[in-house]
Amino acid sequence: MADGLRQETAVKTGLITESWNALGAGQRAFVEAFYQRFFERYPDYRPLFPLELNPRHLEKMVQTIALMADQSQDRGRIAPHMHTLGQAHKAYDLSARDFDNFKRTFVEVLGERLGRQWSAEAEKAWNDAFDAVLVPLMREGLERPR
Ligand code: HEM
Repeated sequence: MADGLRQETAVKTGLITESWNALGAGQRAFVEAFYQRFFERYPDYRPLFPLELNPRHLEKMVQTIALMADQSQDRGRIAPHMHTLGQAHKAYDLSARDFDNFKRTFVEVLGERLGRQWSAEAEKAWNDAFDAVLVPLMREGLERPR
């Protein structure tokens, strides 16, 4: 299973890296636009976050996505980071639905930002990376006792 997963995701990692790099200096602005849309669409989540998202949080988000873009073909290498990140979400009692809301908003805003540089294949690659790598690893971390 692990090998299958690695091979399956390896094929599409190039597209993820490519679209993430295409944002260039706009990565941080993308993360801000993502949160704006996330809170507009799901106002119930807003109170979980501080009034002003602090720069460290935004930076961590950029780093996490960059890590995923570079290494989502290698589950073992990103697992420790994603487990820790999952644990950091313990207090929020997140369901599969919450992760799905995050993913959909993320992919939607990314596609809008990339415009002509976006493609159906890139969209699928990002969805697959969330479904096959990022969310399962965060959930593994969440389920671990502290
Ligand atoms: C795959 C999905 C997700 C990723 C990649 C992600 C990523 C992150 C990152 C990188 C941080 C900053 C951690 C730190 O400062 O150490 C964070 C914090 C946080 N996340 Fe997520 N997250 C995800 C899903 C969610 C969902 C679905 C929610 C629910 C609404 C959520 C709520 C929060 C909250 C409340 C914080 C803390 C904010 C703060 O106190 O500054 N996250 N997340």
